[in-house]
Amino acid sequence: MNNMNSRLIHFAFLPLSLRMVYTMTLLVLGTGYLFAMIQVWEVHANRDGKTMLTAEDLRIAYSGKKGGTRLESALNGPMQNMLPPEERQSILTWVHDGAAKEVYDSKVKSIMDTRCIACHSPAANPHLPNLTNFDDVSKLVSRDEGMSISTLVRVSHIHLFGITFIFFIVSNIFTHAYMRPLWIKCVVIIVPFLTILLDIASWYLTKMQPAFAWMVIGSGALMGISFAVQWITSMYQMWIYKPPKELMECGGQLPIMGGDKIKCVPYQE
Ligand code: HEC
Repeated sequence: MNNMNSRLIHFAFLPLSLRMVYTMTLLVLGTGYLFAMIQVWEVHANRDGKTMLTAEDLRIAYSGKKGGTRLESALNGPMQNMLPPEERQSILTWVHDGAAKEVYDSKVKSIMDTRCIACHSPAANPHLPNLTNFDDVSKLVSRDEGMSISTLVRVSHIHLFGITFIFFIVSNIFTHAYMRPLWIKCVVIIVPFLTILLDIASWYLTKMQPAFAWMVIGSGALMGISFAVQWITSMYQMWIYKPPKELMECGGQLPIMGGDKIKCVPYQE
């Protein structure tokens, strides 16, 4: 029990220079976290047409937008009046049936040549989708499958390595905090690492089953909360908080009240 290695060294007992290192590290990592949130917002928030970041945005991001292709949306929207309804219907049927090359050659190309390429050709307007050949038209009828597995794998390994580094640093600093009961402190340390794994798993689950979008949101929120708890507790205890008097008197050791006298034993941790 008299193992000095198990002592808590509270922030109050750390040299000023080390607390400076910790403080500056937390400031920069905290700023980094804010930018990461802005980045998530920027990339995902607008997918479902609403400004807020919703579960639907994440469903679309990971598993793709169900329903319309770009060509269908255009034909049901702004391009609706560019052609007679029966021709419009035969293009829609062609898309619906899988957009095969043979049908394009036999039916669709002639319609597009008469109705569309006056505007949709590189010569007429290079900024509009080119509708003069099968390959370019195909790009407008591909289904949105969401993020590809190879993208997910790439982002997964970056997140696993990168975020683990960040939490390794932040929770190392946080170990100097005084938090009772001890199990809460342990939970606050374990949770962020678990949420990294949970977060990554939820991406793949959402790709397969869109309902898991809530798990992406839940693990992200939990990760943010645990980062905030560690960050705020560390900063607060480093500069503002006065540790309990007994802890100070015992030089960071655990005080045990024995009669009137305080006995100091190593704080087991
Ligand atoms: C009079 C010129 C004109 C004709 C004819 C025309 N379009 Fe367009 N098209 C536009 C313009 C301009 C835009 C871009 C602005 C917009 O989306 O409203 C556009 C946009 C599109 C888009 C892109 C929408 C997106 O996702 O960005 C598609 C697809 C499209 N048109 C398909 C067609 C088809 C199919 C036809 C023939 C049936 C057609 N257009 C005929 C002018 C035309």
